[in-house]
Amino acid sequence: MLLLIMCILAFLIWHNNTIVVSHITYSSPKLPESFEGYRILQVSDLHNKDFHGRLTNKIKEAKPDIIVITGDLIDHRKTKLAVAVDFVADIKDIAPIYYVTGNHEQASDERGPLMAALEVLGVHIMDNEYREISLGDEKIGIMGIPDPSIQQRLGGYDWMDQHGYVHSWLLELLKDVETDFNILLSHRPEKFDSYRAAEIDLVFSGHAHGGQIRIPFIGGVIAPHQGLFPKYTSGMHTDAGTSMVVSRGLGNSLFPLRVLNPPEVVVVTLSKA
Ligand SMILES: [Fe+2]
Repeated sequence: MLLLIMCILAFLIWHNNTIVVSHITYSSPKLPESFEGYRILQVSDLHNKDFHGRLTNKIKEAKPDIIVITGDLIDHRKTKLAVAVDFVADIKDIAPIYYVTGNHEQASDERGPLMAALEVLGVHIMDNEYREISLGDEKIGIMGIPDPSIQQRLGGYDWMDQHGYVHSWLLELLKDVETDFNILLSHRPEKFDSYRAAEIDLVFSGHAHGGQIRIPFIGGVIAPHQGLFPKYTSGMHTDAGTSMVVSRGLGNSLFPLRVLNPPEVVVVTLSKA
């Protein structure tokens, strides 16, 4: 019995430290021709986990055109600023980095120093920002919104109106948008209805940690803000012209183990076909 428990523990430790690279092809006729084969690598929910260079190597091997980080780079319960900043410093020369905050950055006292350090490293901080990515004379848009819990920090927070915040931020951003094809970075997958209502083409989100424990043929068991058997924990979800990629993330927060749910890096390849 003791041997069995030790074997299960050894498996779980190995499993929680083995990075899986998930490849997704996203197709849209709206995509400008120059972006055929464009590779977007997503890092999400690292929660200060240190993979001691293995994550950096996986990112290098994937040869991305850009890297997007969709929040919870740190964990507010055990913030290790140096781990997060050193990781970003290691990957900053691989490809341009676009970043939005998660709920953990918003809850952390070290949010300010983290943002300052990321800015020094040349990271595009995309909370309520819109930018254009150009290839030749064609371009696509990329925008981001902060985690809705930013309102808790700023005051006037209403748990019931997170949908309202997301919706108003998106409307504000879209006022300046001149690109026909647009990507959104947003930590929260459960706000998919808002992204679809704003007619965003492609969304990158995280937060759900794959549902923490994954049951074959069923999926994730539990996720924050989605509860039991959550709808959005992994893969790509498409409805009415909006597709949302949900990363299962790389680290853990309150619950320290992933079960049948290894740490994940997502690589999305854009295609016109
Ligand atoms: Fe989160």
